Parts: sequence; structure tokens; C-alpha cells
Amino acid sequence: MHYLLLVLIGVYAVNGATLLGNRCQAEFRKAHLSKNLNVSVAHTIHSLTVPALRLFNPRATVDNHIPTVNQNLHGTGPKVVMYAPDEILPTGYYGFTMQMIDKILSMIGKQDDGLGPHWSAVERIAHKFHMWDLWARLQPEVEKLNPKPSEKLCACLLDTEKNGILEAVQWIANHYESGTPITLLDRPIPKLVDAKAWDFWKNDLLHYYDAESLHDAATYLHCATKDF
Ligand SMILES: *[C@@H]1O[C@H](CO)[C@@H](O)[C@H](O)[C@H]1NC(C)=O
Repeated sequence: MHYLLLVLIGVYAVNGATLLGNRCQAEFRKAHLSKNLNVSVAHTIHSLTVPALRLFNPRATVDNHIPTVNQNLHGTGPKVVMYAPDEILPTGYYGFTMQMIDKILSMIGKQDDGLGPHWSAVERIAHKFHMWDLWARLQPEVEKLNPKPSEKLCACLLDTEKNGILEAVQWIANHYESGTPITLLDRPIPKLVDAKAWDFWKNDLLHYYDAESLHDAATYLHCATKDF
């Protein structure tokens, strides 16, 4: 009798989970999100910071629940943290660009910028400004979303532990241990040492600027930043 009850509960639980999944899949389809949204969103958020979140909502704080790669990858802590951290730029230089370059170069060899040990100085600079370029590109996409994502859709998108987004951020963190993944395509990346290598890098860095990826990322960012 007990056994039968347990089996019934088990069957119900499995069906419940599938139903929840199917409902979210339907929400994603209705909102024209792509099958790669785990990857397009994870790429967009893996190195997000509070100043970048302020592009989407000036009230953003570290209380944001967005999974990112831990900036400190050589410690014993988790490789992914469940928030986008603040980023304070050093004083001295006048503008954002030079302050950011100052910050990146002042951390070379210390591995405290969330990229792991394998990136050269110029690769770190290209990565940082590429991400800011993408976030700036996404700002008008978020603004012009029409219709705005529903509460149901947002609940599905923000459930990163179930919808595969957290797992894809984890993938990025894991691959920083062995290389310089600039896409999640899992293919060899040449060191950025000359114009030919830059050709490859430029093409790969532009990989998530297509309309589909931008729509996935903008929809997630709307949901993640609307309630600050
Ligand atoms: C993203 O989702 C697809 C389809 O569900 C899956 O095959 C792929 O492994 C996921 N990618 C990562 C990096 O988690």
C-alpha cells in the first residue's frame, strides 16, 4: 500500500516537472526565443557587473540574482556566483575607457578579473570592451521589446537553475580553466597576436550579435532588471 502510494507520488512528481518544463517551453516559443537561449543569455550575463546593469535600470545593485563567473577563480570558492558584482574603477584618468584599461592592466597576473589564467593583456581588454559593446547594443533592444515579457515568461527565464542558463554560465567558468572561450562553440581559439588572429577573434566576438541572440538576451535582461 505504502509502496503504491510512493510510486503514485513519484509518477506525479515527474509529470509535474515535465508539465512545468513544457509550460516554460511554450512561453519561450510564444515570445520567439531561440532554442539556444541558454547559450545566448549565458554569454550575455557571464561577466555582468552592477555598472553595466545600470544601462538597463539605474537603480541596479548587487542584489540582482544574475549568475556570473566568480571574479576570483583561483580561490576555493564557487566558480559561479548568483549575482553580478559591483565594479569600481580606479581614479586618476578622466574617462571610462582609460579608467577601464587602467583597471584591467593593474590586475594582470593576479587573475582577479573572472577570466582565469589564460588570457593575454590584449585579450582581456578586447573581452571587456566587447562585452560593454554588446550590453550597449542591447540597451535599445530591451527598450523596444513589444510586447513586454509577461510575468509568466519572466518567471521561466529567471529560473536559471532549471532552464539551462546557470549550467551554460558554469560551462564558461569551467572552460576558463583551460583556455579563452569567446563563444560557447567549443573550438580552438588562436592567441590574439596579429591581424590574422584578430580576424578570427572579431568574427567570434560578433557571434552573439545576430537578431535571434539579441532578442533572447534582451528579453532576459528586461526580466532580470525591471524590478530594482
Ligand atoms: C544549451 O542547450 C542545448 C539544448 O538544450 C544543449 O544541447 C547544450 O548542451 C546547452 N549548452 C550549454 C553550454 O549548457
